[in-house]
Amino acid sequence: MEKILGLFTLLIIPLLIINVSCSGEESSSPQSINLWFDGYAEEEQEYGGELQDEMDSFLMLKSEKGARIPVNVDSFGAVGDGLADDTQAFQNAWDVACSLKDAVFLVPENRRYKVNATKFVGPCERNLIIQVSGIIVAPEEPDDWNPKYSKIWLSFSKLNGVKIQGGGIIDGSGSKWWATSCKINKKNPCKGAPTAVTIDSSSGIRVKDLTIQFAQQMHFTISRSEAIRISGVHINAPSDSPNTDGIHITDSTNVAIQNCHIGTGDDCISIVNASKNIKMKSIQCGPGHGISIGSLGKDNSTGIVTGVVLDMAKLTGTKNGVRIKTWQGGSGYVKAVRFENVEMIDVENPIIIDQFYCDSPTTCMNHTSAVKISQVIYRNIRGTSRSPNAMKFACSDTVPCSNIVLNNINLERENGIAETFCNCAIGFDYGVVLPKADCLKSSSCGGTQEDNQKQKHDPIPTHTEL
Ligand SMILES: *[C@@H]1O[C@H](CO)[C@@H](O)[C@H](O)[C@H]1NC(C)=O
Ligand SMILES: *[C@@H]1O[C@H](CO)[C@@H](O)[C@H](O)[C@H]1NC(C)=O
Ligand SMILES: *[C@@H]1O[C@H](CO)[C@@H](O)[C@H](O)[C@H]1NC(C)=O
Ligand SMILES: *[C@@H]1O[C@H](CO)[C@@H](O)[C@H](O)[C@H]1NC(C)=O
Repeated sequence: MEKILGLFTLLIIPLLIINVSCSGEESSSPQSINLWFDGYAEEEQEYGGELQDEMDSFLMLKSEKGARIPVNVDSFGAVGDGLADDTQAFQNAWDVACSLKDAVFLVPENRRYKVNATKFVGPCERNLIIQVSGIIVAPEEPDDWNPKYSKIWLSFSKLNGVKIQGGGIIDGSGSKWWATSCKINKKNPCKGAPTAVTIDSSSGIRVKDLTIQFAQQMHFTISRSEAIRISGVHINAPSDSPNTDGIHITDSTNVAIQNCHIGTGDDCISIVNASKNIKMKSIQCGPGHGISIGSLGKDNSTGIVTGVVLDMAKLTGTKNGVRIKTWQGGSGYVKAVRFENVEMIDVENPIIIDQFYCDSPTTCMNHTSAVKISQVIYRNIRGTSRSPNAMKFACSDTVPCSNIVLNNINLERENGIAETFCNCAIGFDYGVVLPKADCLKSSSCGGTQEDNQKQKHDPIPTHTEL
């Protein structure tokens, strides 16, 4: 009975326009939306303590306590002239730093170290700091790349409680790789290229104050990890460099990204399968393809992403703003997502859900299964759209999007009229919403009833864990 009531309020309350005091606990009213996020750690304090943290580690490095043990790559024979092969020196320095408590793996400033693909593997002794103050640069010739490391350049794995910092630059020298991409030249085989920096199978990692640029493919991937905090990271590649995502998160939980400037040839941030509780705050993106959840569901795969918050972002000249993209034929779900306080400047598709994503040379057929998208809130989003569809909710006919919520949206088109497009998207809006999004309330399609049936069995708010 409660469930049916819940469904009733879900559908009716938005239409009745919103009497603050009367919404039932399980209803989908603006007041109850926060319940969607209950299952996820949301405390703002997660972002606090930043400065203190920074001071701490700064002092630790220099303090008279002298507890820190510097392990300088130069002491292991690194030349740092940008020409010599410093791979072995880095590897040897790593082995020592990793085996010592309170060590600082030090890449000194004002030098340029050429390093081949390398795996920096833990676990290490406690309190390791990786201090990159100089420049680490990749060899630029794809033909000379060790095929054993086709997916990585600098990979950090099995680490626990490590800080990576130092104000230095990690440079993938990617231009020759980009030229070999099948996206640039259709005659090239589509075989991919290394990710510049990977954090894999790790926890409690703090990355701050670094530049990662000109990656061979993706810049910075976080995989199979938890409790990762990234701040003050700058990522930089040309707008026409293929597949050069900024930060890519896969199979990871509790990731916070703050104060990052990202400009690339692909997504500034992409969040894919098996990722949960991802927070992004104060992000600047552009050029690039925007901030994306997905793609998910390729080749009939399962994709699950829950608990994503973007708060305070500025996107400039990007292809998309905030995007959720899934392939036809997938399964799984995207749930409990909030994009808020976002400024869009000349963005082609500022707000977009695309369940017909097809990044393939051949046409993708429609299927009956799809990744289910629900509980997505867009709040305080303003700026300019380059295309007529400032908001586009292109959802699957058989698995419609539900509980799409818009609050305080003001998106204009510089020359012409901005519109909202809906296909099988169900939700509501409140506050000022421009362009108007009435199609969320009237979206009719084959799947709607089936979807509503489903919701009886799976009423919101749900906090199903993975
Ligand atoms: C680094 O790569 C170059 C070019 O492929 C190769 O000649 C060299 O032996 C590699 N260095 C190490 C330490 O493997
Ligand atoms: C997505 O993650 C789920 C849960 O971890 C897993 O079962 C599934 O195989 C993953 N899908 C892909 C495409 O890797
Ligand atoms: C995905 O599933 C559809 C429908 O069952 C099937 O026709 C198609 O071949 C499958 N595609 C892949 C890549 O497995
Ligand atoms: C898939 O479905 C969408 C929405 O109904 C439709 O616009 C699109 O043309 C279809 N695509 C194909 C390849 O049939």
